[in-house]
Amino acid sequence: MTLDVPCLTTPDALERAAADLVMEIASEAVRVRGVCRLALAGGSTPRGLYERLAESPYRERLPWSALDVFWSDERAVGPSQRDSNYRMAFDALLSKVPLPPERVHRMRGEAANLGEAAGSYDAEIRAAFPDATGTPRFDLLLLGIGADGHTASLFPGTPALAENSALVVANPVPRLATTRLTMTLPLINAARTVLVLAAGADKADAVRSILQPHEGAALAPAALVHPHHGRMVWLLDTAAAGLLAQVTP
Ligand code: 6PG
Repeated sequence: MTLDVPCLTTPDALERAAADLVMEIASEAVRVRGVCRLALAGGSTPRGLYERLAESPYRERLPWSALDVFWSDERAVGPSQRDSNYRMAFDALLSKVPLPPERVHRMRGEAANLGEAAGSYDAEIRAAFPDATGTPRFDLLLLGIGADGHTASLFPGTPALAENSALVVANPVPRLATTRLTMTLPLINAARTVLVLAAGADKADAVRSILQPHEGAALAPAALVHPHHGRMVWLLDTAAAGLLAQVTP
């Protein structure tokens, strides 16, 4: 794994750098493999990136007709609910670009049986990689991090962290009194590129604990993300990078 940690001055610079990276990776994936498989992150941080991708020049230049869009996690809610990761991406991006509906792979957070929904999504991912010999390799997998070091819906102390074969699981999160659908570490770590976006001072402690862990400190879930044969890029604004040693904007 190669690790890049650019530190950017402002959230706007972070969004622009992220949009350029999405553009670069999507264009290369389509050139080489004829398709780009992209997994979107949830939460609020990526909203600005998604809005930028819906604007010029990205809107005109991204290969929408060869882009398969997935989600790295979803809350136990329906697509029209305010805290749906799908809805955030739909409002910010998908409703504004010519992405064929069949290329939008939504996690069914509204399912009565989230275990079955996870199994179906696992199968949907595998079907999107007909040539895969092992774990499917997303061309680009976007992640955020929480102040507690979680990523996707891999929260500290939750069973999904120990999953070593399924691509997607329904993960009980007692701290939130809910169950969420999430991609697992085997799938995340198979990606060709993982891009982590973190902005704001409230992420600085988690960023340091992940990128510059203290000796003997408990590993945050996001610290378990190491693409085995891929590239990991952290895009941080100066606030989120505020506690890192030797990082210059
Ligand atoms: C989610 C995300 C989650 C998110 C972090 C950061 O469903 O909430 O997948 O992992 O990326 O919690 O969230 P913010 O971007 O809102 O700070």
